Amino acid sequence: MKYAEVFKESLEHPDDFWGRVADEIDWDRKWDSVLDKSNSPFFKWFSGGKLNTCYNCVDRHVLRGRGEQTAVVYDSPVTGTIQKITYGDLMERVSKVAGFLKKLGVGKGDTVLIYMPMIPEALISMLACARLGAIHSVVFGGFAAPELAVRIDDAKPKVILSASCGIEVQKIIPYKPLLDKAIELAGPKPDKCVIFQRSQVLAQLMPDRDLDWHELEAAAEPAGCVAVEATDPLYILYTSGTTAKPKGVVRDNGGHAVALLWSMKYIYGIGPGDVYWAASDVGWVVGHSYIVYAPLLIGATTIIFEGKPVGTPDPGAFWRVISEHQVKALFTAPTAIRAIKREDPDGKFLKSYDISCFDTLFLAGERLDPDTYYWATKLLDKPVIDHWWQTETAWAICGNFRGLEFFSPKPGSATKPMPGYDVKVLDPGTAQEMGPNETGVIAVKLPLAPGNLPTLWNDDQRFVESYMSPYPGYYLTGDGGYIDEDGYVFVMGRVDDVINVAGHRLSTGSMEEVLAKHPAVAECAVIGATDDLKGQLPVGLVVLKSGVDRPKDEIVAELVRMVREDVGAVASFKKAVIVNRLPKTRSGKVLRGTMRKIADGESYSVPSTIDDPAVLGEIQEALRHIGYATNPPN
Ligand code: COA
Ligand code: AMP
Repeated sequence: MKYAEVFKESLEHPDDFWGRVADEIDWDRKWDSVLDKSNSPFFKWFSGGKLNTCYNCVDRHVLRGRGEQTAVVYDSPVTGTIQKITYGDLMERVSKVAGFLKKLGVGKGDTVLIYMPMIPEALISMLACARLGAIHSVVFGGFAAPELAVRIDDAKPKVILSASCGIEVQKIIPYKPLLDKAIELAGPKPDKCVIFQRSQVLAQLMPDRDLDWHELEAAAEPAGCVAVEATDPLYILYTSGTTAKPKGVVRDNGGHAVALLWSMKYIYGIGPGDVYWAASDVGWVVGHSYIVYAPLLIGATTIIFEGKPVGTPDPGAFWRVISEHQVKALFTAPTAIRAIKREDPDGKFLKSYDISCFDTLFLAGERLDPDTYYWATKLLDKPVIDHWWQTETAWAICGNFRGLEFFSPKPGSATKPMPGYDVKVLDPGTAQEMGPNETGVIAVKLPLAPGNLPTLWNDDQRFVESYMSPYPGYYLTGDGGYIDEDGYVFVMGRVDDVINVAGHRLSTGSMEEVLAKHPAVAECAVIGATDDLKGQLPVGLVVLKSGVDRPKDEIVAELVRMVREDVGAVASFKKAVIVNRLPKTRSGKVLRGTMRKIADGESYSVPSTIDDPAVLGEIQEALRHIGYATNPPN
């Protein structure tokens, strides 16, 4: 099949195109319309249709004879465990977990928060919620208690599912104290918390509120699948916006199942029985879509890897997993490949493993720099595919294909738009569509493809203001870049204050809010400076209140500690510098973009609106002291 025909049909006749894909999903009731455009920009996919996502991921495979096939491989070098769960066993466990949730009063439309490490019970929890028609909200384990509290406040979960600890290489991270603190900070309290006790740490359970997972699962009556509307929410996933308050991205059931099924076959080239591995975390969208839902929808085997690309125990970990479990496609972030390259530049560790089963390396989460692309391509001698997507979209906006036409890659480009995505580059000032190779903001002409967010949780207004109002008729991606003369899309980076650290999307606003709480701080800014390993790292620039004469190092150390405690270790906030003043426009807007360019040693033009250009020299000097801004400004 040729890409051009597929792409054209998806835009010109979306009902035919997606309707055909939808026939491969099991529906309890067929949809009335494939795409309902009556209330733009709130588009609805498959309205009138009813289905259950868990049934499509689990039960239907068992009923069609795949019960003995491995559904999930849990590979945990940090605990020395390898466990295989068949589709049959998965159905049994998910039904029982759904059963105890039901007994705790969880039903269709209720929210359940999941705060778990990379163990099979995280995936089982998600599917159990889907089985009941409950809405899950998974929070990444690397976030600290206050970030967890914000998500509890917004999602108001009836029940929280958690575990006694996570394991970061050799560090044991007790989760329960973080959970207790978050619940204490949060306004609405959950009725119950169910804790999965791991042998590394036994969590203290609070009488009346906390329950033991093992006991509940052992005693549970299995629960069946509840059919929900295609447009009902499957989950909420919070992601960083430009302000400190995260955005609750909503995912529907119908469009999501249809889009993910298509993506498995045509982007990843994966079919039933294949082994597919997304080396991410269930707390991120990659984990939701490609550790849990998509591989199971198609009847493949998915891998839950509780480890890191390096240090568990060595930079050969990824090649070991590929070889041991016969992985056909691996999806990870470029930063993981850079981490391997740094420790094993000649790829010596790969030589110990037979990876002839391996077909493709997929990378996303941040820009794939050409150096990393070339290194991985040379090492693996297999296609390396860069694909671009966001929490909001659930699947790729642009990419290349292993089940459709494979385009000759252009390093630095995420290749072509996926079916259903009418990608345009707009002039940020005039909103006019730009020509080939002209850089602007990247937008997607409405309607968005199935699987994309229908709205933000309880916040239609923010949904419209953030994504739909800036350029009416388009979805604003927040990324900038260009499309070349061959239609290849180049995504160059965010045009807002969102930064990307080791493939993790973070808000500089949330870190600034923490710094501003320090009693000595008058004002501050956080920028994302380029980092060889993690892509970007946050750097704080802080102005002290007049009269503060404490040692600067001491204040910086306190600021670093505060961000770790309030946002989480995942922010990797380790550097801050005290300055006399921040560069601002005459109207008072802090010039973060200019400071970022100074930090990275890029050339920049002095903004005509700047209040006092002399401040830029001071900023450069200060950044130099902490290892940035090593090039002179032009
Ligand atoms: N629970 C608790 N803490 C966590 C955590 C979790 N789930 N995940 C990360 N952290 C902690 C880490 O232990 C580290 O703490 P430290 O400051 O005490 O060292 C901190 O958060 C930063 O973590 P990370 O950014 O992962 O850095 P790292 O140095 O531990 O590892 C890489 C670097 C590149 C190996 C790692 O970031 C990686 O594997 N990245 C792949 C990214 C990825 O999967 N992205 C998802 C999108 S595809
Ligand atoms: P997240 O919502 O956490 O998945 O982060 C989405 C953001 O990561 C995007 O808006 C981009 O800025 C960045 N991103 C993801 N994939 C790519 C890619 N392949 N190329 C460039 N940037 C990417």
